[in-house]
Amino acid sequence: MPTPPLAGGTAGPAHLRPLIDTVLTALHDGATRRNGPLPAGGPDTVTQHLLRTTGLLIPDHGTGAHHALRTLVTALAEGAADPAHPHCAAHLHTPPLALAAAADLAASALNPSMDSWDQAPAASALETALTTALATEIYPHAPQPDALVTTGGTEANQLALLLARERHGPVQTICAANAHHSITRAAWLLGLPRPVVIPAPAGVMDLPALRDALLRNDGPLLVTATAGTTDTGRIDPLTDIADLTTTHGAELHIDAAYGGPLLFSPTHRHALRSLHRAHSVTLDLHKLGWQPASAGILAVPHHHHLDVLHHHAPYLNADDDTDAGLPDLLGRSLRTTRRPDALKIAVTLQALGRDGLAELVDRTLTTAHHLADLIDADPALELYDRPTISTVLFRPTHTDDTTVATIRRTLLDRGHAVLGRAHTDQGLWLKATLLNPHTTPDDLRSLLTLVTHAHTGATKEGSTPR
Ligand SMILES: Cc1ncc(COP(=O)(O)O)c(C=O)c1O
Repeated sequence: MPTPPLAGGTAGPAHLRPLIDTVLTALHDGATRRNGPLPAGGPDTVTQHLLRTTGLLIPDHGTGAHHALRTLVTALAEGAADPAHPHCAAHLHTPPLALAAAADLAASALNPSMDSWDQAPAASALETALTTALATEIYPHAPQPDALVTTGGTEANQLALLLARERHGPVQTICAANAHHSITRAAWLLGLPRPVVIPAPAGVMDLPALRDALLRNDGPLLVTATAGTTDTGRIDPLTDIADLTTTHGAELHIDAAYGGPLLFSPTHRHALRSLHRAHSVTLDLHKLGWQPASAGILAVPHHHHLDVLHHHAPYLNADDDTDAGLPDLLGRSLRTTRRPDALKIAVTLQALGRDGLAELVDRTLTTAHHLADLIDADPALELYDRPTISTVLFRPTHTDDTTVATIRRTLLDRGHAVLGRAHTDQGLWLKATLLNPHTTPDDLRSLLTLVTHAHTGATKEGSTPR
């Protein structure tokens, strides 16, 4: 077999073009075969079909590029849970914009690595400009806001706790029961005390409980609030929380992994009032920012806050190289090799502009309200509450947790819909996390019809698929 061609250089694009054509055909064929939001039949069926159609993964003699791309990409697309389908709405699992995926292809072809300037001359300059611009959106009045690109909300939250620990020693984290699990895990990973978890009875942090926790706990304290909770999409009362942390001398981190992009919407940005008062903010553009994973951000009001991440590895940031003016990038992450995720984000922001992004955000939130209206109008369905962002919890009226869980698994098993599950103090709910700006009212009506049919099946047969 001839040596396979490379993706980069002047010859790269000519080699890529026919391969991409094969990939695009395979994506189309796989989605056509699937013909729905996910493959029907559940894990065993999907696994057996995949193994049957893909054949040996490490054959003695290669099958060639087009064959392997056709086989494996078709199989993956056929077996995908595809967030571009309007009935795939379980998680903060975004349908990426085509333009962002196209930009990501360029990132793969060029393969800059963001750990040293000599691997990423222009990409590092782009990342710096983008992170400054995004940090300025969050901290418009801060003197020198800055941000790091992360693999997502989990890494951004870990870094936030790390920065607090480096500033103050072993900080005691205080979060609410609605916080993302990555906060507790970050405390564990960093050797910090277990977070004090205060109640969130209405889905948001309870302020009297926060005041008590701030009074009862000594030492350096870090409160983490959430702007867009994973289960219900609610936003903690950020201004009151910021006031309390200021009064009690605690630091504040806001996990706006989900809700952060509301900043771009003149209609909805008021929901994030006081975001800028946090010592650090998590933002995740592979959620309400329509980026392919990964596209996380951790923003801080002053770039000096990131100094503690400085690290020396002579092959990447020798002192004399830094003195001679080569940017030192190693302190921009705890990772070493790192993809230029800034490219797809920058392409998206430039292509859409503020108004384009605002329109996407607004349309998505309107879709969620429309779903809530449809549920409200149907006496057979119960709505948890009006959506704050784009998460809608609902279930059949007068049902129990087992039936709700069965409906969800029935829809998965039939390949009809991907809905999530969320527990509140009123029991289990189906969760629709709407992130697809192309979803129509008809799509929402048919989603509810599928739920109703699955419910009828579940109550008639008492069936419990897997
Ligand atoms: C509020 C919140 N924070 C953080 C995360 C973690 O983000 P990631 O999966 O990008 O690490 C999530 C994930 O859903 C989330 O909902």
